[in-house]
Amino acid sequence: MLRFYCISLSLCLFIACKKTSDRPKPINGNRGVIAEHAMVVSARSEASKIGVDILKKGGNAFDAMIATELALAVSYPYAGNLGGGGFMVYRKANGDIGSIDYREKAPLAASKNMYLDEKGNIIPEKSTLGAMAIGVPGTIAGVFEVHDKLGSLPIATILKPVITLAYKGVVVSQKQENRIKHYQSSFRKANKDSIVFDFNWETGDTITYTALAKTLERISKNGRDEFYKGETAKILAKFIQNNGGMISEADLSKYEAKWRDPITFSYDDLKIISMGPPSSGGVCLAQILKMLEPFPLDEYGHNTVKTIQAITEAERRAYADRSFYLGDPDFVEIPIKTLISDSYLSGRMSNFSFEKATLSEDVSHGNIKIIESMETTHYSIVDQFGNAIAATTTLNGAYGSKLYCAELGFFLNNEMDDFSSKPGVPNMFGLIGAEANSIAPEKRMLSSMTPTIVEKNGQLYMTLGTPGGATIITSVLQTILNVHEFDMTMQNAVNAPRFHHQWLPDHILMEPNSFDRSVITQLENLGYKINEGESIILGKVDGILVLEDNSYEGGADYRGDDTAIGF
Ligand code: DON
Repeated sequence: MLRFYCISLSLCLFIACKKTSDRPKPINGNRGVIAEHAMVVSARSEASKIGVDILKKGGNAFDAMIATELALAVSYPYAGNLGGGGFMVYRKANGDIGSIDYREKAPLAASKNMYLDEKGNIIPEKSTLGAMAIGVPGTIAGVFEVHDKLGSLPIATILKPVITLAYKGVVVSQKQENRIKHYQSSFRKANKDSIVFDFNWETGDTITYTALAKTLERISKNGRDEFYKGETAKILAKFIQNNGGMISEADLSKYEAKWRDPITFSYDDLKIISMGPPSSGGVCLAQILKMLEPFPLDEYGHNTVKTIQAITEAERRAYADRSFYLGDPDFVEIPIKTLISDSYLSGRMSNFSFEKATLSEDVSHGNIKIIESMETTHYSIVDQFGNAIAATTTLNGAYGSKLYCAELGFFLNNEMDDFSSKPGVPNMFGLIGAEANSIAPEKRMLSSMTPTIVEKNGQLYMTLGTPGGATIITSVLQTILNVHEFDMTMQNAVNAPRFHHQWLPDHILMEPNSFDRSVITQLENLGYKINEGESIILGKVDGILVLEDNSYEGGADYRGDDTAIGF
C-alpha cells in the first residue's frame, strides 16, 4: 500500500508540475489553511478529520467523501444525514468528470395535490413538518454507488472511524447549542416521544449516538441493501407510517441513486463543472455567469453598485427561467442546451440598463417572502492523487422534518417541500415553481444545490459549494467571481459579504451591516429594494483553491463551525 501511495504521489506531483503558473500566490496573510498534498473542508472538524484520516490511510477522494458524508450525519445532525439526500460532482486526476444524484424521491403514494386542502389551498406545515414531508432518502444509496464505481478502500475501513465517533460522541459547539434550543419546540411538535435533542444541551457537553452507531454497523456489515431492503428498511418504513407518513418498504426497495452528466460551460478562461437537473444549480450558475461574461466586473470592483446591479439582473432572469423550466429530467423535457446557450442568454440581458432596475413583474409576477432559516451542508475534498469532489447534502430544512427515528438514530428530511405544491405559491425558500416541478410518484424534487468544480487551463483550480436553499447558486457564483474577478484568496472569497436576488420576491437580500451605506442608497435610488432585515445567513461556503505552487488553500466559512484540514 505504501509503495502504491508513493508511486501515486509522485505521479500526482509530476502531473501537478505541469500546471500553469497564473494562479494566486500562496504567500498572503489572509489565506485559509494551506496543505501540500490533500484537504477536506466541511461543516465540522470531526468530519474533516475523519475524511483526512481516510486519505492518510491511502484512500482516495471518493473514500473520503463517503467517510465525510457519514461523519457529518453523526457530527452535524442539523443537515448531515442518513435520512436525506444530495449531489456530488467529481473531477478525477486524469480529467474525467462526472456527477451522482442521490436526491430524495416522492413516495409511490404521492400525488400532485397532496399538500392542498379541499379548497385547493396549501395545508400549512404539511410539506415541512413531520412524516408527510419526507422524501425517500438517497444518501446511503449514493455513497455505496460512489464506492462501487470509484472507491478504493473496503467499506468497513471507511465506516469504522464514523462508527467510533458515533459511540464516542460529539462535543456541542456554541452554534449547535443555539440551534438545538431554537428548534426544540418543533421537535416536540413533530415527535410523539421525547428525543435526544429535547435535552437542555450546553456548549461543551458530549452527545453520544449509540442507535446511529448500531445502524451504521449493520450497514457496514450488510451493505446498501440493509438500508433499503433489510432490517433498517423495515424499522424505517414502520416508523414513518406510524407517524402518519406514506413511505413504504416498496419505496425504499425501489430507490436508486443515478449517475448524471454534469453541466459544463466556460467563463473567461475557466471551465466550470456543476450539477445538472434535478438540481437547478448548474443550469442557473451557467446562465448567470454567461449573462455576466460581457461585463468587466473586475473594473467595476467588488460589491460596487455596478457589480451588484449586473449580478442582480442576471440572477433575476436565471431564477425566472428556473421556476418555469426546471424539474426532474426523468419526468420533464428540459431545454438545457438552449437555456445555457450564448445566443439565448445574450438576448436575456438586452432589456437591462445601468440607469434603472428591471422589475421582476416585467419578467413575470408574484409576491412572496423567505420565512425560515434552513440547513444543508457542503464539503469539498482534494486527495493526494489529484482527484477532487464537491458534495452537497441535505435534510432540506434545519433538522429536516424534525421527525427523529430514535431506534435508528437519525432525522428524516422534509425535502417534499422542494416540489411546487401549487403553481405560483412559494415554498419555504420563497421559490415558486410550475408544472415542471409538480409532485408525482417517484419524481425527484427540484434542488438548488450547486456542488461545483472549476478548471483553469485544463487543470483543477477550485472545488466549492454551500448550503442556503435558493441562495446556494448565488453564493457559489459570488465565491467564484471573488477569486477570479477580484483576486481574492479562497478564505477571503468565502468571507466576503454576499447578496442574493431570486427574481421573486423582487428584492436584493444582503447580509446585514456588511455593505457600504452609500452603495445601498445608490441602489435604492436606481429602483432596487434592499432587504437586510430578514437576512438569513447567505450560505456557508466550503471550498479549496489550487495555488500557484500546487498547494491547496482551504476556505472554511466562519459563518458556521466549518473547518479545513489538510496535510
Ligand atoms: O435542494 C435544495 O435546494 C434545498 N433542499 C436545499 C436546502 C438548503 O440548502 C437549506 N440550507 N440552508
